Amino acid sequence: MSRLTPLSLSGDAGQRAAGLPRNALLCVVGARPNFMKIAPIMAALRAPDCPIPACLVHTGQHYDEDMKDAFFNQLGIPEPDVDLEVGSASHAVQTAEIMRRFEPVIDAVDPSGILVVGDVNSTIACALVAVKKGVPVIHVEAGLRSFDRAMPEEINRILTDQISELLFTTERTAHANLVREGIDEQRIHFVGNVMIDTLFGHRAKAIPTAKTLARYADAKAVATCGDSYAVLTLHRPSNVDDPFVLERLIDTVVCLSHDVPVVFPVHPRTRAVLQKAGLLKKLSAAPRLWMLPPVGYLEMLGLMAGAQMVLTDSGGMQEETTALGVPCITLRSNTERPITIDQGTNTIAGSDADTILSVARDVLASGGKAGRIPEKWDGRAAERIRDVLVVWQEDRRQSGAGRV
Ligand code: UD1
Repeated sequence: MSRLTPLSLSGDAGQRAAGLPRNALLCVVGARPNFMKIAPIMAALRAPDCPIPACLVHTGQHYDEDMKDAFFNQLGIPEPDVDLEVGSASHAVQTAEIMRRFEPVIDAVDPSGILVVGDVNSTIACALVAVKKGVPVIHVEAGLRSFDRAMPEEINRILTDQISELLFTTERTAHANLVREGIDEQRIHFVGNVMIDTLFGHRAKAIPTAKTLARYADAKAVATCGDSYAVLTLHRPSNVDDPFVLERLIDTVVCLSHDVPVVFPVHPRTRAVLQKAGLLKKLSAAPRLWMLPPVGYLEMLGLMAGAQMVLTDSGGMQEETTALGVPCITLRSNTERPITIDQGTNTIAGSDADTILSVARDVLASGGKAGRIPEKWDGRAAERIRDVLVVWQEDRRQSGAGRV
């Protein structure tokens, strides 16, 4: 599906960036999983005592009310200073278009650095533009590796890390991965997990499941789910792009819904394939399974916190369930976040029906892995990032390398 805003309609991003403070730090977001990572970083950088001028650029990779606005509003993310309004397209077109639209922003601001988060197309696209213009790249959530190069995100991670000047990690295995790939240890900083800063900061405001189900499903859903339900999310190309693979997973989950009711907020990518392959009927016919539109951050936090288990192929939700102490069943054959397996509540189940059902039934019977919260997942990662950035910018200024 393509929804690329023509450049002529998106206006001239460079002109809009011309009013921004020169040499500011440009923080970049693009897609849904970036929003909960950038929120605490922008808050830390825009705190009155922080000497670093910081601006926010949204590439527009995700643009819907459901996929973007709900997150900006609920998480208190400032309005982007520049919106590149790139929209959806193939990987190559989307990445190329972000690069084309980001370059004039760099030219206009001459930033002291650009800060990118995670592993989406916006991350690598902006990093690549910046590094070729001699602007230092700062990567938050560096060093995670699934060792599966068929994943578009794995390519984005490896390449972004290779061209980054400062690399902030969430777990110690990430440090080892980076060193193995030849990254100078001096550039790596283990700061913890900004996504968990957001989770702890919003835990008390989570919207209860009954309210979400009353709004997006019906009274029967509220009554059936009570305090025992599973949450399902699916959006990885490897799970959803091939209708046969997707149908097998759907059949498995429909089968599981006889054991435990299932709540399924459906990603737009997944909905498009379900629709095209005629699979929506199968899901609607399952009496204990409810499809929801993509829900906001506070709705999803409430759904996860109250669930008996979460079945997902999302990377972020593997971490969030570990922080919440809720069992997670990962519908992939690997994870780039091994700490969620070693210390957290996560179990890898892949896409085989028997394995998924057996792991899920085990969780229902035993309560699943209790897990513990990993080191430095304490709500203060963004502060640590800011502290490193302040020292780094001062060092660059003194050595004459920095623009500040
Ligand atoms: C992207 C990220 C993935 C992340 C996911 C979270 C890459 C390579 N992948 O995948 O790592 O986990 O976001 O959602 O960057 N769409 C809408 N509304 C929107 C955005 C997208 O309807 O606001 C639809 C479009 O039809 C689009 C499809 O979703 O074609 C996929 O969007 P895209 O950004 O290409 O990738 P995701 O699958 O969302």
